Amino acid sequence: MNALELTINGSRVDASGIDPNTTLLNFVRSKGLTGSKEGCAEGECGACAVALLRPDADGGCRYEAVNACLCLVAGLAGAEVLTVEGIGSSESPHPAQMALMQGGSQCGYCTPGFAVSLFCEYHRTDRTGPINLEALCGNLCRCTGYRPIAEGALSLGLPQASAFTARLEQPAPPVPALEYAHDGRRLTRPSSLADLFAALTADPDAKLVAGGTDVLCEINIRHARYQHLVSLDGIPELQRLLWTDDALEIGAGVSISTLEAALGNRIPLLAELFPLYASRLIRNRATLGGNLGTASPVGDSSPVLLALGASVRLESVRGERTVPLQEFFTGFRKTALEVGEIVTAIVIPTTTATHQRFFKIAKRGRDDISTVSVAIALEVSGGVIRNAKFGLGGVAATPARAFNTEAFLVGKPLELGVMRDAGRILESEFTPLSDHRGSAAYRSAMLGQTLERFIAGLEVSA
Ligand SMILES: Cc1cc2nc3c(=O)[nH]c(=O)nc-3n(C[C@H](O)[C@H](O)[C@H](O)COP(=O)(O)OP(=O)(O)OC[C@H]3O[C@@H](n4cnc5c(N)ncnc54)[C@H](O)[C@@H]3O)c2cc1C
Ligand code: FES
Ligand code: FES
Repeated sequence: MNALELTINGSRVDASGIDPNTTLLNFVRSKGLTGSKEGCAEGECGACAVALLRPDADGGCRYEAVNACLCLVAGLAGAEVLTVEGIGSSESPHPAQMALMQGGSQCGYCTPGFAVSLFCEYHRTDRTGPINLEALCGNLCRCTGYRPIAEGALSLGLPQASAFTARLEQPAPPVPALEYAHDGRRLTRPSSLADLFAALTADPDAKLVAGGTDVLCEINIRHARYQHLVSLDGIPELQRLLWTDDALEIGAGVSISTLEAALGNRIPLLAELFPLYASRLIRNRATLGGNLGTASPVGDSSPVLLALGASVRLESVRGERTVPLQEFFTGFRKTALEVGEIVTAIVIPTTTATHQRFFKIAKRGRDDISTVSVAIALEVSGGVIRNAKFGLGGVAATPARAFNTEAFLVGKPLELGVMRDAGRILESEFTPLSDHRGSAAYRSAMLGQTLERFIAGLEVSA
């Protein structure tokens, strides 16, 4: 079927007749909603932020800010979207817009994006205190400076009853199956794994899209145009989060923000990872399945999942298999996935690690790609290291375990001298490449230094 509709600012909008590769940002702007701006087209600036209505755990819904430049219109068929024009007008501005008008905007290019991110945080249903400024970390401002923006945001109280709060009491729009085609290109949105595998059997070259935060960069920046996109958004099997007696199973399509909220501090390594993972805008869409599917050597989930001893469940029409994560990466951006096979879940065994830390070395503290990343999980009892797992990013063609360093540490006391020796082994275990993010020598040096930082965070004998 070729009908494609979504609700934008409360009105049904017919989007039929667009290429399936079209971004939501280009679409809303083509409809005259030019408040949403294009600053970068790759998720870096947040000037394009819009709000989506997404399901909440309690049967209602929540406003979720996303980068419109990284969303496919066709993938959002049936969705409810609010652009900056939909949250308020000059005659009747929303409190979030009012807050920014008190000195938080100069040229105003970034302001619509800030207003939408702030609107979503303002209406966060579990918010009982001030605005969490972390909600704005995907919005860049080049001229106002962040202090007046932060002050405006922090001046906001709790939301008063309004049409916006009333909407949150109702369920989110469903995500039904969709087959949309235009001019020889199509987007399929299956509503079950069985339908997904049927689609992939019929067209093994189809391009999977989960959150789209990597795929849409290919479309926008590298001008990729996919003949057949398959959205994973409507598949309930990929949205599960299941604690068993001995493991946590995370559906490959669960967004990072959902995971962050659901897990809290239950797995310290993940709790350390999430705030360092891109921005709130990206985390609202990005998935672990997509991060592993991209297989970037500097992807941030891989080191953490390697240190946690995770496996991936791979499924296709032929059945399922479970592969330890260190065997999943087979070369630079290559994986063990076979034709028609996808990652359906990440399985994290209950860890016995007593000491867990994640270090991300990047040029910026937030919203940046890692130069080097190191995840450490040690099991220590009686002062002796019984088990050690290291997951590393940015030091080889693939994310990697540091097997030599791990073997050296097992049976040794947890003390400064031992960790320094381990740092030297870690430095020599890999031969990283030099690139624009850092030289090979810098990357190696960072490895050793990370163990110093690890030990500095513990109270151990010298
Ligand atoms: C501004 C910005 C900042 C970023 N910062 C970070 C960061 O700090 N750390 C980091 O690690 N990454 C970062 N990324 C990269 C990206 O957000 C992550 O890799 C994200 O987890 C990808 O998930 P996704 O669902 O959006 O993937 P998508 O873009 O939907 O898919 C990515 C790839 O995986 C494939 N794929 C998707 N789902 C599956 C599946 N279930 N099985 C098999 N293959 C699949 C797709 O076909 C595609 O090739 C950033 C990206 C941007 C744009
Ligand atoms: S245009 Fe910069 S994040 Fe979308
Ligand atoms: S006000 Fe100019 S970029 Fe923010």
